[in-house]
Amino acid sequence: MRFLSTRRRSRAAKPIMLLLALMLVGSVYAVVSPATSSQADTNASSQVAAGKAIFEQNCSSCHGLGGAGTTQGPSLAGVGAASVDFQMGTGRMPMARPEAQAPSKPTKFTDEEIAQVAAYVASLAPGPQVPSSSTYNASGLTAEQLARGGELFKTNCSACHNIEGRGGALPGGSYAPSLSKTSDKHIYEAMRIGPQQMPVFSKGVVTDEDAREIIGYLNTVRTQPNDGGLALGGIGPVTEGLWGWIVGIGGLILVAHWLARKGARAR
Ligand code: HEC
Ligand code: HEC
Repeated sequence: MRFLSTRRRSRAAKPIMLLLALMLVGSVYAVVSPATSSQADTNASSQVAAGKAIFEQNCSSCHGLGGAGTTQGPSLAGVGAASVDFQMGTGRMPMARPEAQAPSKPTKFTDEEIAQVAAYVASLAPGPQVPSSSTYNASGLTAEQLARGGELFKTNCSACHNIEGRGGALPGGSYAPSLSKTSDKHIYEAMRIGPQQMPVFSKGVVTDEDAREIIGYLNTVRTQPNDGGLALGGIGPVTEGLWGWIVGIGGLILVAHWLARKGARAR
């Protein structure tokens, strides 16, 4: 504490207090000032306009102007925001070139841009909406509910995706992908929109509660260790070696450090 005398500290504290006070005023103002509905309307229509611009640049070559469809891609009227969120969020769309099945890949769009395109497509015709996180959040399920999710997955999904969600080939050269990296939201959306060969699972067949149990089951399958050592994200022995280094050597350094300090104190 030789470096910070109390006087110095109090001098430094003044600007910090001022900053805190300003932040407090700002957040109180943000909470108190009412967001008028006309403002919300312009926000929504500017979101649609921004989405339209992105769509015309990246999607209309295949899906047509106004999403009416071409020989290269289907009409998007009525597919809904959820379908766009799924297709762009999993990186399937925009498709690089016409092919039998668009693979999932890292998306090059931000969440905001995806929401804009989704709002635009939803403005063409009503369709399934993007779910709120409480709809698909599967945390806090009981062991009983997770077991039920496993049963539901077995009956409805495992024929194509394999019982552990590892995916598999389908007739006609297409495939059901592995579900090991799919986000909870995209799992929920896939059930409701049924991409490509996958059937639509409506709320009458798979209720929202069933869906959460299925998502919970898939999450437990992912975190379960498999036979040959830890999966560590399934990247293979390289990561396993790397972790050995980080954890092992890191641990040794910590122990050495502790011993040295203990020795110094004893002296
Ligand atoms: C190279 C052509 C091509 C481009 C570019 C393209 N798509 Fe597609 N899109 C397709 C084809 C073909 C399908 C149908 C096959 C499939 O689902 O894999 C499809 C399917 C879709 C679907 C699912 C439709 C349904 O019936 O459920 C959505 C949503 C979609 N595209 C959105 C987009 C968006 C948004 C973009 C731009 C960011 C885009 N696509 C760019 C060719 C394309
Ligand atoms: C008839 C076979 C079939 C059944 C049954 C089926 N799926 Fe699928 N599923 C597919 C195919 C095919 C795709 C890939 C679609 C595409 O690429 O556009 C897919 C894609 C998915 C994806 C997207 C994964 C990714 O790549 O990000 C999820 C999640 C998913 N399915 C979950 C489920 C769940 C949950 C069930 C059961 C409620 C189910 N599926 C039942 C065939 C099936």
